[in-house]
Amino acid sequence: MPPSRLPRPRRYLVCEPRYFDVRYAINPWMRENTEVDLDLARSQWDTLVATYRDLGHTVETVAPEPGLPDMVFAANSVLVVEGRVFGSRFHAPQRQPEEALYAAWFKAAGFDVQQSLAVCEGEGDLVPVRGLVLAGTGFRTTTDAHREVQEFFGMPTISLQLVDPYFYHLDTALFVLDDENIAYYPDAFSPGSREVLQRLFPQALTATREDATAFGLNSVSDGQHVLVAPGATALIAQLTTHGYLPVPVDLSEFHKAGGGIKCCTQEIRA
Ligand code: ARG
Repeated sequence: MPPSRLPRPRRYLVCEPRYFDVRYAINPWMRENTEVDLDLARSQWDTLVATYRDLGHTVETVAPEPGLPDMVFAANSVLVVEGRVFGSRFHAPQRQPEEALYAAWFKAAGFDVQQSLAVCEGEGDLVPVRGLVLAGTGFRTTTDAHREVQEFFGMPTISLQLVDPYFYHLDTALFVLDDENIAYYPDAFSPGSREVLQRLFPQALTATREDATAFGLNSVSDGQHVLVAPGATALIAQLTTHGYLPVPVDLSEFHKAGGGIKCCTQEIRA
């Protein structure tokens, strides 16, 4: 019998894909001026939000802005832990105007926001779990930002080296299953970082390259339900074996921009 898992209600921030598009290319998934089916993107995104609400989670929205096609990827805007908000500084100039818009949303919602000095892309590269912050670097967020994060949150911040440009953000290669455990794709990391993950999370689920390229590691779990890309079939089977309840949600239009479920979902941790 697999162990039974308990969900914890979450508060999420999302941004509707009204102006979602693929004009510029800032990661290997993107091709300049790719055709995007905006109606399909919209209905896929609506399904994601409806799924969160059906599971009892709170979902809030930040207004999208014309000319910012990647603003839908709310997870890149900040990291929030214990109500403390650390704002991003985007690597790509095309995304930098998002910084002020998200910071303004958090200020209006009653949070103080500390803006990163170094390049930092929020939950894209910063994953809190078990009192630690797992922090990706190599393509976007810098190790200078990792030091700022550790100082700001007072949480041990573990730098992990990403080595595969297809998995340019930590959240494309690793996600948190529950308060204790994670799932990840080992080959996205340098040998040393892989060893760090093995030491910290000996029980972790490890995924295949097929799972990872299907955006299976860009998942969101509430501790029991795991919203996961339907193409990540081996991972879905593993989740079931381990007592989680996989909930497939297809965000294929967003994969054209290099994003999936987690990228569209910013968690606000009280
Ligand atoms: N096109 C966006 C970028 O390259 C996608 C961001 C995906 N977000 C994420 N959390 N991985 O910045």
